[in-house]
Amino acid sequence: MNKKVFITRKIPAIGIQKLLDKGYVVDVYEKSEIPSQDELISILASGNYDAALCLLTDKIDARIFDAAPSVKLYVNYATGFDNIDIALAKERGIIVANAPSEFSSEAVAEYTIALMLSLTTRIVEADKFVREGKYAGWAPMNFIGMGIFGKTLGLIGAGRIGMHTARCAAGLGMKVLYTDVHKNEQMEKESGAIFVDTSEEVLQKSDVVSLHVPLLPSTTHLINETRLRLMKPTGFLINTSRGPVIDEKALEKALREKIIAGAALDVFEFEPHVSEGLMELQNVILTPHIASASVEVRNDMAEVASQSIIDFFEGKTPKNIVS
Ligand code: GLV
Repeated sequence: MNKKVFITRKIPAIGIQKLLDKGYVVDVYEKSEIPSQDELISILASGNYDAALCLLTDKIDARIFDAAPSVKLYVNYATGFDNIDIALAKERGIIVANAPSEFSSEAVAEYTIALMLSLTTRIVEADKFVREGKYAGWAPMNFIGMGIFGKTLGLIGAGRIGMHTARCAAGLGMKVLYTDVHKNEQMEKESGAIFVDTSEEVLQKSDVVSLHVPLLPSTTHLINETRLRLMKPTGFLINTSRGPVIDEKALEKALREKIIAGAALDVFEFEPHVSEGLMELQNVILTPHIASASVEVRNDMAEVASQSIIDFFEGKTPKNIVS
């Protein structure tokens, strides 16, 4: 009998076609909004699916596992997988894979650099100013930003994304400092990045700090009020990792009181909710979790995710198993 796959939201057609070509029965959640967990449970419980291709917005935990015992494999259409109870999946012998694209690290690194330059050159504020009809002619003091050549980019997290970000920053003439649980020798060689032992040291010594850690108990609220106070008052903070890595209330206070100069957030502590307080501030750039949203990455992720399903049911070990 043909295997059945449920995809919890529309993904690029190339991934769906790959499954159809192999004879899979594929059902895709049709609405454009995020399904509630109850809705997912009811679909999965009644559909007798063999695998689910889920998203980082889906909470995959005991309620889902209990409701859908036929689902043997969950493939998360994302690099991160903090939305899935991996420990429980392991305990129950359920396989979980993620879908990192080989291009996603580059895309997130490029986006990080875009956010950094948007902060330091004040592009977002300046665009708004022109659209509001406020531009009355060139003025020496209009929108003075900060040059980045020779400045220090501090990276907290030096995996693939951190490494590509360091490469781009070095190309722009920046010095790179980093901290991680392991040293990244390739990054040191390529980008001249200097390892320091603690995130505190990165925060103290950098002009721009960018976060590239997974969400773990040890990284939740890693950036709190005390650590924000270590940053330079001219410093900028960028987060393209996961929202809860920053205590958002503490960040709002630091931005409001000018303890730091600015921040750019692509992820939020209570995503998709963005606090009113942050939205009122001019010294923060807010984007809707799109750091990896390039056409190359999204198509590749769809192919990688579908290939894992195909491999699994052909008896091969799928790449990217995380359970
Ligand atoms: C996006 O945040 C991802 O984990 O792929």
